[in-house]
Amino acid sequence: MSAVVRDMTPADIGAVLTIENKSFPSPWSRLMFEQEVYAESGRAWLVVEHDGVVLGYGGLALLDEAAHVMNLAVRADCRHRGLGRALLAHLARRARGMGARHLTLEVRERNRSAMALYEAAGLKTVGVRPGYYSETGEHAVVMWSDDITHPGEEARLEELWNRAELDLEAYPDVATGHSAPLVLGIETSCDETAAAVMRGGTELLSSVIASQVDFHARFGGVVPEIASRKHTEAIVAVVQEAMEEAGATFGDLDAIAVTHGPGLIGALVVGVAYAKGLSLATGLPLVGVNHLEGHIFANPFANDDVTPPLVALVVSGGHTSLVHVPEWGVYHTLGETLDDAAGEAFDKVAKVLGLGYPGGPVLSSLAEEGDPAAIDFPRAMLRSGDYAFSLSGLKTAVINHIRHEREAGREIHVPDLAASFQQAVIDVQVTKATRAAKELGVQWFCLAGGVAANKLLRESLHETLSAEGVRVSVPPLDLCTDNAAMIAAAGTWRFLRGERLYLDAEAVADLRLDADDASLKT
Ligand code: KG4
Ligand code: ZN
Repeated sequence: MSAVVRDMTPADIGAVLTIENKSFPSPWSRLMFEQEVYAESGRAWLVVEHDGVVLGYGGLALLDEAAHVMNLAVRADCRHRGLGRALLAHLARRARGMGARHLTLEVRERNRSAMALYEAAGLKTVGVRPGYYSETGEHAVVMWSDDITHPGEEARLEELWNRAELDLEAYPDVATGHSAPLVLGIETSCDETAAAVMRGGTELLSSVIASQVDFHARFGGVVPEIASRKHTEAIVAVVQEAMEEAGATFGDLDAIAVTHGPGLIGALVVGVAYAKGLSLATGLPLVGVNHLEGHIFANPFANDDVTPPLVALVVSGGHTSLVHVPEWGVYHTLGETLDDAAGEAFDKVAKVLGLGYPGGPVLSSLAEEGDPAAIDFPRAMLRSGDYAFSLSGLKTAVINHIRHEREAGREIHVPDLAASFQQAVIDVQVTKATRAAKELGVQWFCLAGGVAANKLLRESLHETLSAEGVRVSVPPLDLCTDNAAMIAAAGTWRFLRGERLYLDAEAVADLRLDADDASLKT
């Protein structure tokens, strides 16, 4: 397959910026490229592309009879093959077509390879602009061509075109460079400030989580104001640590992925605002990830056999839903909780028992010593025939039981209570999950979210669904509760689909998983 030179489109700008940022000390911003690409007339902007991957670009603007070459760069690992020559020759053809008689440009005096390219194209040094590049004080060399409509000059430029190696059999690294982008994931939707760096959506290079749980524990739950303040304090250091651990610099990255909903709005905005600032400063494209989609993506990340169509049970401190995923990126919510989330029920029961926050881990470990049949708690909606859940009745029943026992002067057997409560939660979840998987005829079932760390839930789903011939995926424990690796994994997938979050996008507290895809792009 050979490389082609074609017009640059707005969709190329992300890839162009990645090359731009790695090529120049003061790169152009997205806005600058957008202004050029959207300009109505007097411009020619081209990319050289191989198998869908942008390898280089260049553009010019026409001023009177002179076509000013404004920018030209080739990906570092694709240099010395004449792609710059091909771009320049093609730009010259376009300039001629626009009525230009000369090519002109400024080049950094230290950029010898660029000067050599322009000299080969027949441009000559006509002067120097001292200190033109203000950030380094470097001089600009001004170059100018002879009349490019003159047959001799035209032939020289066509010769450049012929010498370019556009037959790119010898570009084995190019495809991998594109399909394995380096992505920084950022997560701040609740009470963990997290950042992770991932290669190609599968190779985790670092994952840093700063938990605020100690600051919330004394209140028995997450306090929104504390959450956003702590995210603000932690985010810079957390991202820095993730980058250092990955041995990467911002210049090595291809994209930034950030959770933009759902979650606590004051917490989400910290991550989103930070990511936007980083995107603006580095020119890196930004991708928005739905937190729940992130939880689901912990499954294919941990086990690459997992593929849709599948059913996922998303159970966390804020959500309890059964989701049908016919293909990646398409989510149909089959049913969700009408009141409390499963994690929330664990947290509230633990709070009443004085066991601190979060309640899930402590209650489930106490439950191991207890008898799940000791107390008969209600299994709400078990036979409702739909996929909805309701946990507030169970929570109230547990709290009433505790009060009743205390009032009667009886000591509460906490392990029995924990085991009975946990069993009531799990019975309903497993029953509905199994029915959904069977009804939709899927081969895979994925468990996702903080409550997926629950050992009994994992085991029960495995047992019941395996008996029905459904394969079950549960993420490793550290990928169940909030982390940024899952955001980087989902973000990589969205990045490769060309989705972007622009600088006017906002965090959305109630962002839905089955929202129209467009909401993820704005
Ligand atoms: O996904 P996550 O880290 O944060 C949200 O997005 O909400 O989930 C946290 C929730 C908490 O409610 C916590 O109690 C619960 O997950 N959780 C558990 C277990 N580990 C964490 N619930 C039951 N059993 C567990 N072992
Ligand atoms: Zn979560």
